[in-house]
Amino acid sequence: MTKIKASIIGGSGYAGGELIRLLLFHPKVEIQQVTSRRYLNEPIGLVHPNLRGLSQLTFTSIDKLQPADVIFIALPNGNSMAIFSKVKPLARKIIDLGADFRLNQANLWQTWYRQEHQRPDLLTKFVYGLPEVNRQAIRQADWLACGGCEAMVSILTLYPVIKQGLIETDDIIIDAKMSSSQVGSQPSWSSHHPERSGVVRSYKPTGHRHTAEIEEQLSVFSHRQVKVSVSATSLDMVRGILVTIHTKPKRTLTDKDVWQAYRQVYSKEPFIRIIKQSRGLYRYPEPKILQGSNYCDIGFELDKHNNRLVLIGAIDNLMKGTAGTAVQSLNIMFGFDETLGLKFPGLHPV
Ligand SMILES: NC(=O)c1ccc[n+]([C@@H]2O[C@H](COP(=O)([O-])OP(=O)(O)OC[C@H]3O[C@@H](n4cnc5c(N)ncnc54)[C@H](OP(=O)(O)O)[C@@H]3O)[C@@H](O)[C@H]2O)c1
Repeated sequence: MTKIKASIIGGSGYAGGELIRLLLFHPKVEIQQVTSRRYLNEPIGLVHPNLRGLSQLTFTSIDKLQPADVIFIALPNGNSMAIFSKVKPLARKIIDLGADFRLNQANLWQTWYRQEHQRPDLLTKFVYGLPEVNRQAIRQADWLACGGCEAMVSILTLYPVIKQGLIETDDIIIDAKMSSSQVGSQPSWSSHHPERSGVVRSYKPTGHRHTAEIEEQLSVFSHRQVKVSVSATSLDMVRGILVTIHTKPKRTLTDKDVWQAYRQVYSKEPFIRIIKQSRGLYRYPEPKILQGSNYCDIGFELDKHNNRLVLIGAIDNLMKGTAGTAVQSLNIMFGFDETLGLKFPGLHPV
């Protein structure tokens, strides 16, 4: 069976490493090259010890990239736009995991990322890579911008109840619990073990960058003006995001109304599970048991006391939050079964 050739720019990072882990076992993809500046010519297992003995791949430089069927870019924000001209002639399909091409408007990028966009001409040419809300456009896309992890779990959790008109779209509060791998593999003061261990750190009570992406995408997909407030807290966990989203129903709702909204939109989705159980320990979504998997678990609870609808969403930030969704999108872009290389659960216990 002929396989498509894929290369990964930024293969030594956390998102790049997760892409390698997935693509090594993808039946229709062969990894051609992976890049790193720091680990040039070193085997991938040096940086990603979970991949030792599974591949002969060594890191190469961006300048030595050969033409491929698809190139993934997994660089820190602001770098994809700088190298795009160099990458474009090498592959018809480009999948960017960073934030550079997620927003449609350059002024929004400037406001939320505090720098001028170098390639505003490309912003509307990239398709937002979140299959559950944008599958048709992904099928036609050559250039894809995968969403941010916190943004994608928030969008997935909110999309059905907004689409079905169940909640007010200007009164949404997203309380996001974040993990340490979300900031990437570069150490910093805040990631230093004595400072990071044991934290429950409110690091962005307001003004989280993903606010722009969540509002822009939910407004586009639901054809309604959506406003959200995001508060982000760092927890002592390596992988995972949990969002607890407080919303205001437009009318008195029952559990059945909310179930119906999710079922109508997500009943055929292979990676979305609605979790609301009356028994057991894991009665609501929990990132712990999603580690390594591409599932997004979503739950809800109606607060009759205050007429609130509380939504709960959980993902593994490195899977459904980036590399998993990128591979799911690749499957769609190349006409493969959407679940190829991704249909496995997380671990339990972990
Ligand atoms: N971590 C997550 O949970 C997550 C979730 C969603 C989206 N993302 C997105 O994925 C992208 C990568 O994130 P990450 O967490 O994997 O970051 P990371 O661990 O810091 O990895 C960054 C990668 O880029 C390379 N790199 C850094 N600066 C570079 C430059 N100026 N030129 C060329 N290569 C450079 C690094 O390798 P060398 O230094 O060896 O060259 C490394 O391979 C980001 O845009 C992020 O927004 C991450």
